[in-house]
Amino acid sequence: MNSLLRLVNRIWGSSIGKKWIVAITGALLVFFLLAHMAGNLLIFQSSEAINEYAYFLHHMLHGWGIWISRIGLLTMFVLHIAATISLTLHNRQARGQQYAYETTVQASKSSRIMIWSGLTVIAFVFFHIFHFTVRLDPELAGMKEVVDGKERHDVHRMVITGFQKPAVVVFYLIGVTLLCSHLSHGIASIFQTIGIRSKGTRDPFKALGWAISIALWIGFLAVPLTSIFGIIETDEQGSAKSAALIEPVADESSI
Ligand code: HEM
Repeated sequence: MNSLLRLVNRIWGSSIGKKWIVAITGALLVFFLLAHMAGNLLIFQSSEAINEYAYFLHHMLHGWGIWISRIGLLTMFVLHIAATISLTLHNRQARGQQYAYETTVQASKSSRIMIWSGLTVIAFVFFHIFHFTVRLDPELAGMKEVVDGKERHDVHRMVITGFQKPAVVVFYLIGVTLLCSHLSHGIASIFQTIGIRSKGTRDPFKALGWAISIALWIGFLAVPLTSIFGIIETDEQGSAKSAALIEPVADESSI
């Protein structure tokens, strides 16, 4: 126990240790985002696919699975932010004692952008959790269905209805864009921190960071944008439309 505490102290006590914490937690959060985006895209398959997937997430390991994932995710998030803040404060102190080289100014510019985009992502995540997980809006919270005798949340209807408000979609647009801008810089930095980015691999890793960020940007924004523009609809909207299409034909034949 003592040696474990000493190890934690040694990692947290050095800049390199904290950079590794930022890199590893950042990489795990990127894996979460890729998995979350892939899950969200089930909305384009069918309401059954996404609702069953959400039901599975909430019931895996007898309901413990989601709480284990939540605790893991929260730990990654808090460590990522705490280590970043600590590194920034340390760099600021160190810079006060050094000459202001051009490179230092450059580095501080990009890290300042990282801090602002990071702070917006935190605000976005809070809003998003209250929107779709806590479901503060009683209309969204009440969207449930009963299938084969089991009650499950109608995530398909909740998400599409939740994205009918332009202000909400604009907020998601800003949040996801800043998240992806944060990642376009952050993913390449992971490879630098863990020491596998050299002069020769610098550009490929940079391109990989951009490719993942663009894929996440398109994948995440596809849902709010197709919802608000009526490209995907709740099952009820769909049946209301087909009923409206059938009616004029019935009218003509009755003349
Ligand atoms: C823009 C498209 C997105 C959609 C449609 C979406 C959809 C959802 C839904 C439906 C849930 C609730 C799942 C459930 O309880 O059944 C959820 C939870 C969550 N989402 Fe998203 N999400 C999106 C983007 C994001 C982004 C960009 C992030 C991270 C920056 C994120 C992070 C989370 C987190 C942390 C949870 C809470 C998981 C939990 O504890 O239950 N989501 N999302």
